[in-house]
Amino acid sequence: METTAMNSQSTPAGGKPTHIRILVWDVPVRVFHWALAGSFITAFVTAESEAFRNVHVVSGYLMLALIVFRVVWGFVGTRHARFSDFVRGPGAVVNYVRSLINGNPEHHVGHNPAGALAIILLLLLGVGTVASGWMSFNEIGGDALGELHEGIATTMLAVVVVHVLGVIVSSFLHRENLLRSMLTGYKDGPREDGIGHRRGIIAIALVAVLGWFGWGLTQGQFPGLLDANAAAQQAHHGESGEHDDED
Ligand code: HEM
Repeated sequence: METTAMNSQSTPAGGKPTHIRILVWDVPVRVFHWALAGSFITAFVTAESEAFRNVHVVSGYLMLALIVFRVVWGFVGTRHARFSDFVRGPGAVVNYVRSLINGNPEHHVGHNPAGALAIILLLLLGVGTVASGWMSFNEIGGDALGELHEGIATTMLAVVVVHVLGVIVSSFLHRENLLRSMLTGYKDGPREDGIGHRRGIIAIALVAVLGWFGWGLTQGQFPGLLDANAAAQQAHHGESGEHDDED
């Protein structure tokens, strides 16, 4: 078993260290996070471009594959990756927000209840964006579906902005660099709150499967998912001016 707790950070008068550097986010969570952020941003900036239509669609499929992985990991992953560790009812979210307003913010080693709400919304909106995008790409539902796709994606962008602002505010209020912990996996906390495994092998497997899937898509190995002819057809139909681009 891998030992992940590091050096002592604070030592109370009694001499026994309480807060040490502990591993909170396993590698799959971190790979998932940055791959999701990357695929979302890529899909968003290529949304209007005909030339990058395949990049847009592949990014969308990768986003969905990542979300499917994250949902499974939310049940079988390490402690703070599990939904049972961070998904809370509306009461907990209200209490957390009140604690921020009162200037005495509740501290959570894993996701706080308000952050967790944004995370669940992002996962749901991610599925909605890809599902409506797939239908639109396959000319199901006409202009209305295209509009819906854009609407869900824009809502997701708004939640991402709130999420990033929330991360910045929480980092200041808790004097804790949350961005760094999503990169390194470590936070300061009581030893018993740390996780015992990085689960690096799972992260390598995730990257390998995503790479295989992404490459297969571009090589036409999944007919029906990414069909260059379908993309061309859609462009020619020009069913929505916004989807066909100026470049
Ligand atoms: C580029 C700016 C971003 C930064 C700095 C950032 C930062 C973070 C941080 C620090 C956390 C952990 C929060 C905590 O400690 O509770 C987190 C979690 C999360 N973020 Fe972001 N994020 C960014 C962009 C995004 C984007 C674009 C998405 C989605 C499209 C996203 C989705 C998520 C999700 C789903 C989680 C939960 C991770 C998990 O438990 O698997 N983030 N983010």
